Amino acid sequence: MTKDGKVSSHNDDPILRDAFGQQGFIERIAHIIRDCHPPKGIGVNGYWGTGKTSTLMRIYYHLSGKHPFIEKPDLTMVDAPVPKDIQQQVVPIWFEAWRYQHESLPIVALLNEIREQMGLMEKFRNATGKILGVTLLGSLSAFDEVIKAASGGLVKPGLGKIQGIGEKWEAERHMNPLPGQAIKNLLENAVEQALGKNKRLVIFIDDLDRCTPDAALRLLEGIKVYLNLKNCVIVFGMDQRQIERALISALNLDSEKDPGYSASSQAREYLEKICQDIYHLPQPDKSAKAEYFLQLLRELDLGAHSDAHIDNLGGVLLEFDCLPANPRKIKALANRSAGLLLEWISIEPPSGPKVVERRYSVLMAMTIIYCFHRRVYEQLQKNPGYINEVVNWATHEQPEDLINEPLYFPMKNIVPSIGKSGDLPVNPSDSNVFRLHQLFARLKSLSLMDIIPFLNR
Ligand SMILES: Nc1ncnc2c1ncn2[C@@H]1O[C@H](COP(=O)(O)OP(=O)(O)OP(=O)(O)O)[C@@H](O)[C@H]1O
Ligand SMILES: [Mg+2]
Repeated sequence: MTKDGKVSSHNDDPILRDAFGQQGFIERIAHIIRDCHPPKGIGVNGYWGTGKTSTLMRIYYHLSGKHPFIEKPDLTMVDAPVPKDIQQQVVPIWFEAWRYQHESLPIVALLNEIREQMGLMEKFRNATGKILGVTLLGSLSAFDEVIKAASGGLVKPGLGKIQGIGEKWEAERHMNPLPGQAIKNLLENAVEQALGKNKRLVIFIDDLDRCTPDAALRLLEGIKVYLNLKNCVIVFGMDQRQIERALISALNLDSEKDPGYSASSQAREYLEKICQDIYHLPQPDKSAKAEYFLQLLRELDLGAHSDAHIDNLGGVLLEFDCLPANPRKIKALANRSAGLLLEWISIEPPSGPKVVERRYSVLMAMTIIYCFHRRVYEQLQKNPGYINEVVNWATHEQPEDLINEPLYFPMKNIVPSIGKSGDLPVNPSDSNVFRLHQLFARLKSLSLMDIIPFLNR
């Protein structure tokens, strides 16, 4: 960190502080969790890197006043007060699905995690950390029983890490059919005894979409069987697109059998059984994306002319909508452009409004090409004059018409966002979408001198 508290590059940690004004979204979901009639599955859907973990953390915080990983979070980083009444009713549990994806029984890992986290609840411990009261011990032993049953007797619960169990369970599972209503009652009572009446467990399951297809399916199946409880709400953070792909693969779903019932509709219906409400993360608009980018820059070390850099880049971003709606990708762009701006110290600051706008527009375009369109950047490194083919392609009425000419191959897998009839329906978050058409149309042609300062750095 520099003397004035700036950093050289942002990390990618999920964050409680929200730059996109999503507090209303968080409160709506928290309200549903608190006042719904369980059993209930809720999905928070977003593309990779768009803020699912951060959103789950915010909901967790909003409901409980606690951070899932940090015992004493920095309260200045949180932008909303915690409603007092909500804290009383909800006991949150955090579960990172991908960590357990190699377990043959991820549900056993989840049940064990619930048991462990309930056992750690402060109200059941004395000053030396010893468990108090027979009620909790009774509940924990009910969990132990279920864990034993769910693993076909192979897992001794309460020992911490679950060992790999493998095929043996698969074989025995058919001899000892999965327990039904009795297990459900046992768990419901155990939760009620441990937490008290009218309280609910809220289980946050993050990164389900990072699991292998089989592991994701096994966990969902286990949740359906064991955690469909009247005092339990499950909140999934997921990229629905990835989960549906995983389900198609794990369940061997086939579109050809019935053309009117595609594999993706079948996967969606499977998911709907477990996750009845799915909320899509709100997407930041042009000015929210630009403001986020500029805020990230303000926290970075930009060297001399820092304020001028930020003002000038702000002008470009408010005019041209060239950022993806994806905070992880915007962070990568801010980190990259900060590195370039820092090196600009040795270069004369541009002067004259037209020159200024042009220089900063090129900087933004070259940063985006560097981060998201690697083949184009590599081609420019070999031949900086290739920028005019890029401009040609970007400003062509129908860029896809050019793509089969070998000269334009570096743009082959890039999806244009503007065509003859105007804006095209493109994914708002993906980085293979080209968002620089209008910016290049303004710049018209570019000289080597325009782009060489941004190459090979
Ligand atoms: N509302 C927000 N405001 C500002 N920054 C955010 C916001 N949401 C997420 N971020 C930032 O975006 C990045 C990705 O966030 P996060 O890890 O929560 O996304 P994710 O969707 O869970 O990613 P993954 O798909 O890898 O699990 C992080 O660097 C985080 O700090
Ligand atoms: Mg995540």
